[in-house]
Amino acid sequence: MWSASVVGASGYAGGELLRLLLGHESVSIHQATSESFAGKPLARAHPHLRGLTDLRFESAEALTPADVLFCCLPHGVAAAKWSSLAPLAERIVDLSSDFRLRDPSVYQRYYGRPHPAPEVLEKFVYGVPELHRDAIREARFVACGGCNATAAILGLYPLFRAGLAGEERTVIEVKAGSSEAGRKATPSSHHPERSGAVRSFALTGHRHTAEIAQALGNGRPAEVHLSLTAVEMVRGAAATSHVFSKERVTEVDLWRTYREAYREEPFVRIVKERQGTHRYPDPKLLAGTNFADVGFELDQDSGRIVVVSAIDNLMKGASGQAVQCMNLMLGLDETTGLRFTGLHPL
Ligand SMILES: NC(=O)c1ccc[n+]([C@@H]2O[C@H](COP(=O)([O-])OP(=O)(O)OC[C@H]3O[C@@H](n4cnc5c(N)ncnc54)[C@H](OP(=O)(O)O)[C@@H]3O)[C@@H](O)[C@H]2O)c1
Repeated sequence: MWSASVVGASGYAGGELLRLLLGHESVSIHQATSESFAGKPLARAHPHLRGLTDLRFESAEALTPADVLFCCLPHGVAAAKWSSLAPLAERIVDLSSDFRLRDPSVYQRYYGRPHPAPEVLEKFVYGVPELHRDAIREARFVACGGCNATAAILGLYPLFRAGLAGEERTVIEVKAGSSEAGRKATPSSHHPERSGAVRSFALTGHRHTAEIAQALGNGRPAEVHLSLTAVEMVRGAAATSHVFSKERVTEVDLWRTYREAYREEPFVRIVKERQGTHRYPDPKLLAGTNFADVGFELDQDSGRIVVVSAIDNLMKGASGQAVQCMNLMLGLDETTGLRFTGLHPL
């Protein structure tokens, strides 16, 4: 068995990691840290894990080396603490946005301050296996793709890869669930404010724009435009992307493009049905799973390609993807500990 520790384990992403690691056949949990829950059983923060483990949260000061370290800290914290975190494991998977952008000046533009450890950025591989599988296998340090970014990237990647997108602007609208904001309550997450909301925010300038542009660009940032809307669901991110292709394409071209990109992918499904209730990806069907569902439609008159892609933000958008990356880094089957579907009805 390999050993793994989770830093920031009382949060939502940390809780998902603990759930996945408790069910993982090749990895056991070494330590789980929380300052606010130190000394308390894991189930105090994550009641659904009740009865599954005797482990208790520890302070990060008590961390001892493990094979893998997962960092689930708020953005800015892992980079600031990098010198104390780095020696703790041969392999580190960071879930924050601290190490996703390769260019420190882009980080400064989107995060409004200089990067705390710019020299470390080049050591990280961007953690979306569908794009960087081989590099992740060889990596010591992986920065997992952001939730909204992962949804958008997986929807658009086949079109950019095939040269069908990128020449013209690409517009992305993401509907986001409330768990994206983490477990700490804020005025905007208060139930009367959030319940039933269809509340747009970050119509321009959302930080994940930079990740998407970096991931889809061919050496230079792709021209992508992202807007976010907070909606009722707890889990889920659903991206609707509009691609204005210079090249005239047919539906058959699109099917071929998506099949070529995702035929071998264990967690990406093409969802595009002519009939039935569930014709396009719906994050509700993905809750708790590591799947990314991707669908598309072609507007024959204008040539606009509309892509819909959905994930569970805490799974394929965070902890599921982190475990998928860890499996690759450890030379395990990529799907280990992640082979389950969602619930229907939910
Ligand atoms: N939620 C999502 O959908 C999602 C998706 C992708 C990526 N992420 C990223 O993953 C990271 C964790 O997200 P989350 O949603 O799990 O957040 P969260 O629920 O707010 O949890 C954050 C964790 O970090 C600890 N923490 C808070 N402030 C800290 C500080 N200043 N120093 C050290 N520890 C601190 C907290 O526990 P204690 O105070 O008890 O130590 C808590 O365990 C974030 O960087 C987030 O951007 C989140």
